[in-house]
Amino acid sequence: MASTLNFSAKDIPDLTGKVALITGANVGIGLETAYFLASHNATVHLACRSEPRALAAIDILQSRLKAAKVDAKVYYHNLDLGSIKTAKSSAEDFLTKENRLDILIANAGVLGNQWTPEWEYEPMFLTNHLGHFAFVTTLLPLIEKTADITHDVRIVCTTSKALFMTSPTIDYDSITDRPKDADEPRHIGQFATSMKVYGQSKLANLYFAKELDRRYRAKGVWVNAPHPGWVGGTELGLHEAFDMFGFITKRIVEFLHTWFAMKTADGAATQTYLATSPKVPEYGIHGQYLMPRNNWLWRYQGPQVVKLDAAYQNEEEWSKLWQWSEEVVKKELAK
Ligand SMILES: NC(=O)c1ccc[n+]([C@@H]2O[C@H](COP(=O)([O-])OP(=O)(O)OC[C@H]3O[C@@H](n4cnc5c(N)ncnc54)[C@H](OP(=O)(O)O)[C@@H]3O)[C@@H](O)[C@H]2O)c1
Repeated sequence: MASTLNFSAKDIPDLTGKVALITGANVGIGLETAYFLASHNATVHLACRSEPRALAAIDILQSRLKAAKVDAKVYYHNLDLGSIKTAKSSAEDFLTKENRLDILIANAGVLGNQWTPEWEYEPMFLTNHLGHFAFVTTLLPLIEKTADITHDVRIVCTTSKALFMTSPTIDYDSITDRPKDADEPRHIGQFATSMKVYGQSKLANLYFAKELDRRYRAKGVWVNAPHPGWVGGTELGLHEAFDMFGFITKRIVEFLHTWFAMKTADGAATQTYLATSPKVPEYGIHGQYLMPRNNWLWRYQGPQVVKLDAAYQNEEEWSKLWQWSEEVVKKELAK
């Protein structure tokens, strides 16, 4: 299998007739991904928690599409991943809206979120993994129905290189055990734990993709987990950086993002490749971790498949996460 791949926006095929759903698409990498898909004629649903922010994003998209002379359909779909019940009912609502789903991008994510009194699960793990688990698994009948006809459905679970900051095993206790300082205002002493749990949630994105791939690859569903790169122009972790380190640090992060990080559109490229390129089935790219290739000036050169250590290829870990997540969803829905 090719490990370095060539891809840029001009390689996106025509997506007329395809229906795409992107979580967290009102800003950052998700918004750029929505533009790539809509500008190639896909019908795109932006699954977002805030209606005003989603509608503002749709306005931006529509004016860019108009300038590009594309008449695409872009819709807001309500989704709050911070509640398992709500994430599931959002997926059920989607099943009543469309009779096909060709591209599903589980892109939404948070970094550094704090426990709230009502949350029973670590908040980053809840949003980044559990909410997505409830949402994506409820959509699977529609995905299978689409794959029966097209033999080509794409699921992208956006992960992060941060998954390597933690061990390759999910620490389930850290997700359910409320830390003693959970209700204190955010402070710098929580930084290391916060990064570890973010890494665990991104490890869960990878293992969820791997287990989905194991279960659905024979049905024409292509599932992969990309790291978008270090990407500027997004809001990831910015408010948390402000709370933990103060205003000056937030400004430094913004400066680094503007001048040194990848452009947001380049950050969207790897997941757009996985969502659209005919090379994905042609090269048999499934259940893989990908990241961008950059030159020495940190400019995007294309995606690459990264071979992971054996520690990440443990099928028992993937299926344990699936079963544990299923139990959590069942428990939450029974409340
Ligand atoms: N930026 C990077 O350098 C980088 C690096 C590695 C991985 N990633 C990954 O890339 C993905 C996109 O990140 P980004 O940088 O584009 O971040 P971003 O600008 O902060 O966008 C995150 C998106 O997730 C949404 N979201 C957060 N909580 C949600 C919830 N409870 N329900 C529904 N949507 C929710 C946000 O909605 P609101 O606007 O309502 O908050 C926003 O639309 C994430 O999965 C992130 O982990 C990013």
